[in-house]
Amino acid sequence: MPFALIVLAAGMGTRMNSDLPKVLHPVAGEAMLIHAMSAGMALGPERVVVVAGHGAEQVRKVALAFDPEAQVVVQAEQLGTAHAVVQAAPALGDFAGDVLVLYGDTPLIRPETLECMAEARARHDVVVLGFEADDPGRYGRLVMAGEVLERIVEFKDATEAERAIGLCNSGVVMASAPVLFDLVHAVGNDNVAGEYYLTDIVALARARGLSATAVTCAEAETLGVNSRAELAAAEAAFQARARAEALETGVTLQAPETVHFARDTMVGRDAVIEPFVVFGPGVTVESGALIRAFSHLEGCHVSRGAVVGPYARLRPGAELSEDVRIGNFVEVKNALIAEGAKVNHLSYIGDAEIGEGSNIGAGTITCNYDGVMKHRTTIGRGVFIGSDTMLVAPVTVGDGAMTASGSVITRDVAPGALAVGRARQENKPGFAIRLFERLRALRAQASKGE
Ligand code: UD1
Ligand code: MG
Repeated sequence: MPFALIVLAAGMGTRMNSDLPKVLHPVAGEAMLIHAMSAGMALGPERVVVVAGHGAEQVRKVALAFDPEAQVVVQAEQLGTAHAVVQAAPALGDFAGDVLVLYGDTPLIRPETLECMAEARARHDVVVLGFEADDPGRYGRLVMAGEVLERIVEFKDATEAERAIGLCNSGVVMASAPVLFDLVHAVGNDNVAGEYYLTDIVALARARGLSATAVTCAEAETLGVNSRAELAAAEAAFQARARAEALETGVTLQAPETVHFARDTMVGRDAVIEPFVVFGPGVTVESGALIRAFSHLEGCHVSRGAVVGPYARLRPGAELSEDVRIGNFVEVKNALIAEGAKVNHLSYIGDAEIGEGSNIGAGTITCNYDGVMKHRTTIGRGVFIGSDTMLVAPVTVGDGAMTASGSVITRDVAPGALAVGRARQENKPGFAIRLFERLRALRAQASKGE
């Protein structure tokens, strides 16, 4: 059954106390909106509509960067979640399939849970995702009669008895497009907040003789972020899940609670991650690689047998082939390091290519930026770059070549050549003794004069 995804992302997020639209606050380094979109998109929607409002331009940019096909509609005034869904209707035209509504401030929903909802949709007109809350707080409450969901009551409008209900609304709703839009158009705003509540569609559906039910999932999945404290809780819950998944799939984490993952981090079986490693978005670590303590990785690929760190930084476009060594205080950006090459100490390698088995000496820097443009450094196979070499790009060092320590290399080096690019050393016999004597005499004179 084809379905469309609507993600509500227009809310102001007053309780975040922030200039940034709430749904753009990051969890695991990525906007909550992207987490929500990606969960829904895992089920293969035919259409994706994001409802933006507060900070719409910023929200649009982030949504389109993640899915260029998404439609972003603007809810100029945020009159409530039902009103937000109404704004999406024109974008879906006469789409007749199912619609799944997700909230952009609910980043931890798993695609598997959404699949359970799709299954329940086969038997019910309206399906809502609920959860048993430890502390139901300000969540909307689900009023059930057996299997049947009768209505949802918002916390602000709930009686004492209703507030005692532990089954809460996650905000996720699924219904066919015609039914959903029919219902949201009928929702009124006669409630404490004066808002058009999406949650009211359940009672409206029941009044029309339609069936409604709730599917439940773990509370951690439905955590809705409305404050910084909840943002921190979402981050903690995300990390706890990612760590557990890594351990389950055969990754060694020596101190799991110190390792931070991104939404899309891929770590292969038998990889070992030492303590205090941070993964930004877009990282793949293959089986058997070793990521040593205090390393920071982002947008990079680490192949089998590679060893990274301790204290290494891999930035976007760092591509490490098998058995590469990247040591302490080494930064690699947009660079291909071929099999068995080593960059072990205190280096910056950016916009570069390093051939198989080459050794890059301590303190080597690819000077890739001239203040205006970036340039490439190409190093062949089996090259030995002496310590403290400055490679002023664009520059090429041929296979099997060497550079002398402390060289500033501004011209290409032919294969097999030795490049020396530094001032020639001169030794002056006895000069140090005479210099010391003179300096000491000067000091003695100065202290007499005081
Ligand atoms: C909502 C639910 C509540 C549920 C909780 C789960 C309603 C009325 N209440 O409450 O039952 O327990 O989520 O987290 O739906 N938004 C818009 N336009 C608007 C208003 C909101 O796009 O006019 C978006 C927000 O950006 C947000 C989402 O909808 O992503 C939810 O809005 P929010 O104000 O956070 O609702 P809650 O009070 O959390
Ligand atoms: Mg909310």
